[in-house]
Amino acid sequence: MNGTQFDVLVLGAGAAGLMCAARAGQQGRRVLVLEGADRPGKKILISGGGRCNFTNLHVAPDRYLSANPHFAKSALARYTARDFLALIEAYGIAWHEKTLGQLFCDGSARQVVDMLLAECAKGGAVVRCGSPVSQVGHAEGRFVIATPAGEVRAPRLVVATGGPSIPKMGATGFAYDLARQFGLKVVQPRPALVPLTLGGEDALFRELSGVATEVVASAGKARFREAALFTHRGLSGPAILQVSSYWQPGEEVAIDFLPDADADHLLAVKAANPRATLRSALAANLPERLAHDLAERLAAHAGIAAPLADTRDKALRAAGERLKRWAFHPSGTEGFAKAEVTVGGVSTAGLSSRTMEAKAVPGLYFIGEAVDVTGWLGGYNFQWAWASAVACAQAIAEE
Ligand code: FDA
Repeated sequence: MNGTQFDVLVLGAGAAGLMCAARAGQQGRRVLVLEGADRPGKKILISGGGRCNFTNLHVAPDRYLSANPHFAKSALARYTARDFLALIEAYGIAWHEKTLGQLFCDGSARQVVDMLLAECAKGGAVVRCGSPVSQVGHAEGRFVIATPAGEVRAPRLVVATGGPSIPKMGATGFAYDLARQFGLKVVQPRPALVPLTLGGEDALFRELSGVATEVVASAGKARFREAALFTHRGLSGPAILQVSSYWQPGEEVAIDFLPDADADHLLAVKAANPRATLRSALAANLPERLAHDLAERLAAHAGIAAPLADTRDKALRAAGERLKRWAFHPSGTEGFAKAEVTVGGVSTAGLSSRTMEAKAVPGLYFIGEAVDVTGWLGGYNFQWAWASAVACAQAIAEE
């Protein structure tokens, strides 16, 4: 294949790569997408339990983690959740809001991949699967890539190869290698939106595997009110996945098991029903197995007797305070193998927030999860993929 055929090479046919290719193609650029896997959009297909949580109505820059919290603002403002929703609706894809502004397909995530491929076709962008890229050369203002079908060259290269979460799906840190090759820095990547593991004394909670309850989980200043789930390895569920992105090894994760009650809650129960036990009081708001377990632990440490009438108010208040702020010390996370996304990545310091272009390497762009911008759980990561892709495509079209 003659390399002069393309204006833009896009690496990765995931959410960001397909969106960028479609937009750049529709604005007159000749685009080739090189995808290592045998088919495009694999992560989209498994996302949202197969229904793709494709965006969130509450997208705002403060719902993203990055070494530079301002970086995502420009792209997110120029391509919003409503813009993506308009595209979904233009394709007649039925959708619904599940909770907390999270928008899902009524049917299958496949519809989103098909829509993106149709958009690529509309722009004449060529998507070539089974073309893993392992090396990129750069000479005379052109990026050069050897592919199974021959060498390709173009003056612009868009790196949309994602992050290393879920390596068994072929995810790698290839974008980071490329960034370093071209002199860009990489913010230390770590697994995010990932279950936490429990060891030591906390390991006993693993007996509660399968029990879920609504909590407020916090790590540092981050707080999330959603469900937490005990697993055979530790803690999961949306509240835990959210705080995992903020959690640093060695820190505690605090859980408020009674988000709607205050610390004096048990005194009120004692006054209203002196014969109540701690277990029965907790079971009014928590799953039975969890109420039993927490009551046993509190009884052992805080000298709480049954019935509550025989327990001093001070002990009940102390128990209430502990239930409002139960400190876990996670031994770690379940790692990239189970992480939905990666925190960290190609440093935004070397990129333009308007175009996603490397400041020191004209024609080189990084978009999507490869970049050090990571969203909350709930459609925020796809919205970053769409928005960064559109910003990049627009810049490429305007040149
Ligand atoms: P993405 O990973 O999608 O695409 C990168 C592409 O590059 C892949 O197709 C890969 O094969 C290819 N590639 C990698 N290296 C290559 C190489 N060397 N050469 C050629 N090609 C290469 N987010 C959200 O907002 N809502 C949700 O519902 C979910 N659900 C969800 C579930 C699960 C299980 C996971 C693991 C993740 C999610 N996410 C999510 C996160 C979301 O999937 C993620 O943020 C986006 O897919 C990122 O899009 P990108 O295009 O940047 O990377």
